[in-house]
Amino acid sequence: MDRELPFEPYRTKVVERIHRVPREERERHLREAEFNVFKIPSDAIYVDLLTDSGTSAMSDRQWAAMMTGDEAYAQSRSWVDFESTIQRITGYEHVIPCHQGRAAENLLFGVLVREQHVVPNNIHFDTTRANVEFRGAVALDCVCDEGLDPLLEAPFKGNLSVEKLEAAFAKYGDRIPFVMLTITNNSGGGQPVSLANAREVSASCHAHGVPLFLDCARFAENAWFIKRREPGQQDRTVEEIAREFFEQADGCTMSAKKDALVNIGGFVALNDGDVAGSISERLIIQEGFPTYGGLAGRDLAAVAEGLREVLDEEYLTYRIEQVARVGERLDRHGVPYLRPAGGHAIYLDAKSMLSHIPPSGFPGVSFTAALYLEAGIRACEIGSLMFEHTDPDSGELVSPEMELVRLAIPRRVYSHTQLDYVADACARVRDLGPRLQPLEIVWQPPALRHFLCRLRPSGGGHLIAT
Ligand code: F0G
Repeated sequence: MDRELPFEPYRTKVVERIHRVPREERERHLREAEFNVFKIPSDAIYVDLLTDSGTSAMSDRQWAAMMTGDEAYAQSRSWVDFESTIQRITGYEHVIPCHQGRAAENLLFGVLVREQHVVPNNIHFDTTRANVEFRGAVALDCVCDEGLDPLLEAPFKGNLSVEKLEAAFAKYGDRIPFVMLTITNNSGGGQPVSLANAREVSASCHAHGVPLFLDCARFAENAWFIKRREPGQQDRTVEEIAREFFEQADGCTMSAKKDALVNIGGFVALNDGDVAGSISERLIIQEGFPTYGGLAGRDLAAVAEGLREVLDEEYLTYRIEQVARVGERLDRHGVPYLRPAGGHAIYLDAKSMLSHIPPSGFPGVSFTAALYLEAGIRACEIGSLMFEHTDPDSGELVSPEMELVRLAIPRRVYSHTQLDYVADACARVRDLGPRLQPLEIVWQPPALRHFLCRLRPSGGGHLIAT
C-alpha cells in the first residue's frame, strides 16, 4: 500500500496549459533536434525535468513583491530587502547581486583564481568547473568515496573527504586559493553534506589559512537533510542549521534559481571586505551597479521573498518527500538509480540499464532520447556526453565513473500524478533494453558540448531497433 502522499502546503491559483503531443510529432521533434533534448521546443514537452533551475512556481507573495518592486537605480527598497534577508540567513556582511549562479562564480573566481591554481570542491558543478578551468586553473573533485558508489545507501554522500583535501594541501600548497563545498552536491546526485563534515572541512581550510566558500544553490534542502539525518540536529530549525552551516565558511556563491524559488537571480556573499570591493568593481563593468547587479528591482524582491519561503519546513518536507516518492515508485519497477534519492532530483543509472551501450555510445543520452520519444518527458544526461575529458597526464579520453540520467524536479510545479507517469515511463524505456541503440556525435562545439552538439543513432539507423 502507498504510504501517505506528501501533502502540498499550498493550493493552485494559476495554471499553465501543457500538452502531450502525439508520438509522430515527438519523433519529428527528436529528429529535428538531432537527438539533443536541449533543442526540443518546450511546447512539445509534457513533463519537463531538464532542470530544477529557474523552473520553480512563484508564490502569490512573490508575485505581489514583483508588483511592488522598487526600480530605483541605486539603493532601492527591493535591494535593501534582498541584502538584509541574505545577511540574516547567511550571516555574511557583504552581499553582491548578480543575474545567476555562474555570474557569481565568474565574479568571485575572477578576483581569486589564477593560472596554475587548484580549487578543491566535493564535486564541481559543470559551470563551476568551466569557470575554474577557463582561468587555466585545475578543478579538483574531493568527494568522499561513499559519494562515488551509486548503489550505497548512506546519509551524507555529498561530504568532502578531509583526507583527500589534506593530500591536496600537501601536494599543491599555496596554489590553492580557496576550497568550495557544493550543497547539495548536484553533480554527485543531489546528495547532502553534513554539518559535521562542514566543520571538519572548515577547520582544515582555516588551519592552512585558506578560505572556504559554499556553492549554496540548494542550501535549504541540504539543511533539511541535516535536520532529518544528522544525530543531534532534530530539534533545531532548518534556519538555525543553515545559519551554522554558513558560519563554517567565509562566503558563498548562490544560484537563486534553485532554493530562492525564482526564475532568475544570484549573488555572492562574503565577509572579506577587500575581495567584496574588487568584486563590486567588476560588477559595475559586467553586471550593473552594486545595488541591482543586472537584475530588476522586482527580481531582487522575489528572491528576498523566496528565501524566506524556502525555509518553511512544511514546504521542504513536501518538496523532498515528493522527490523521494518518485524513487519509491521506481523501486517498485526495479529501475536502478543513484541511492538514496537526492534533494532535487533522481539520477537514473543508465550504465546498468543499458549495459550493452559503452560510454562512447552515450547510454544516458540514448535513454533520455527514448524517454522523450516514448512519453514526452525531458530529462538530462549526466555522463560521458557532459563530462568526458582528456586526462592531462596520459592524454587519453576518460569517461566519468557514472552514466546517469537526471530527473530534476521543479519546485511546486508538478503533481504526484504527473510524477507517477514519469516513473512508469522510465520503467517502459528500461524495458526496451537492447533495442535501444547507441548514439554518435555528428558535430560538437569545443566546450560544454552537451548543450549544442548534434547526434544520431550509430550507423544512422533508428534509436529503437524494431
Ligand atoms: N552551482 C550549482 C550546484 C548548480 O547546480 C548550478 C546550476 C550552478 C552553480 C550555476 O547556476 O545556472 O544559475 O548559472 N545548475 C543548473 C542545473 C543549471 O540544471 O543543475 P546558474
